[in-house]
Amino acid sequence: MSRIAYVNGQYIEHRRAAVHIDDRGYQFADGIYEVVAIVGGRLIDAELHWQRLERSLREMKISAPMSRAALSHVIAEVIRRNGVADGIVYLQITRGVAPRDHVFPKKVRPAVVVTVKRTKPVDPKLVARGVDVISLPDIRWGRCDIKSLSLLPNVMAKQAAKEQGAYEAWLVDQDGNVTEGSSTNAWIVSAKGTLVTRKAGPEILNGVTRLAVLALARAEKMKIEERSFSLKEALKAKEAFITSTTNFVMPVVRIDGKTIGGGKPGPFARKLREHYIAHMATA
Ligand code: PDD
Repeated sequence: MSRIAYVNGQYIEHRRAAVHIDDRGYQFADGIYEVVAIVGGRLIDAELHWQRLERSLREMKISAPMSRAALSHVIAEVIRRNGVADGIVYLQITRGVAPRDHVFPKKVRPAVVVTVKRTKPVDPKLVARGVDVISLPDIRWGRCDIKSLSLLPNVMAKQAAKEQGAYEAWLVDQDGNVTEGSSTNAWIVSAKGTLVTRKAGPEILNGVTRLAVLALARAEKMKIEERSFSLKEALKAKEAFITSTTNFVMPVVRIDGKTIGGGKPGPFARKLREHYIAHMATA
């Protein structure tokens, strides 16, 4: 069965799917996206993804290409046509196709692409072992809360991590505080045993997994602080971990080659991962 993508009103073979060279996503990264997990044929935390998608569109002043119901139908149809039970949906909306000009075009229809990919779960051995992260300066723009297509610094950071044998790069702001990972949110368990993750704001993407894990931690009555933490504090933390749609909760056991929490995944990460996996069954 060949893969099917949705591109601007058509369901088309993935390898033939294409957008116009004047698409503003291609020229200016003038668009937004979402990545949603499909587990057992269901979209996980769909409502939170919709809310973030609609917020990104509003912040970018891109009009909604169609109603939520219509877009939901398109996504369900792409999932159905690809027969994917476990994987991810990639949804991208750009301002549309128009002759290149920085100013927004007057009459333009947003361009929509939906693809679905079958994915294997993250290697359980990796979860059991925990991963390495490196730190890098956060050189991104001032609106990282918008899930925009403009990911060049993130791509550069992830590549640097890979080249250094690490799984993720943690980005550090000018005050020495960790903002987030290149495609994940960053968490620590402080020396005092408090769960810490940066407060949502323009410096980070407010991850859907971050929100779900915060709610689970609250339900577990864990002590939580949504605040900035420095790289120095992270290096002294009891635990560290990352969250995202594709990683769920992934323990971090080394930062810049320095061991965190005895070099083994800790109880907070383990527990929150279990709770998150249970949450996905009903989310
Ligand atoms: N990345 N921070 C950044 C910069 C991200 O790109 C992502 C998601 C997250 C975690 O968000 P969520 O929990 O909603 O997945 C945090 C997606 C998966 C990606 O770009 O592939």
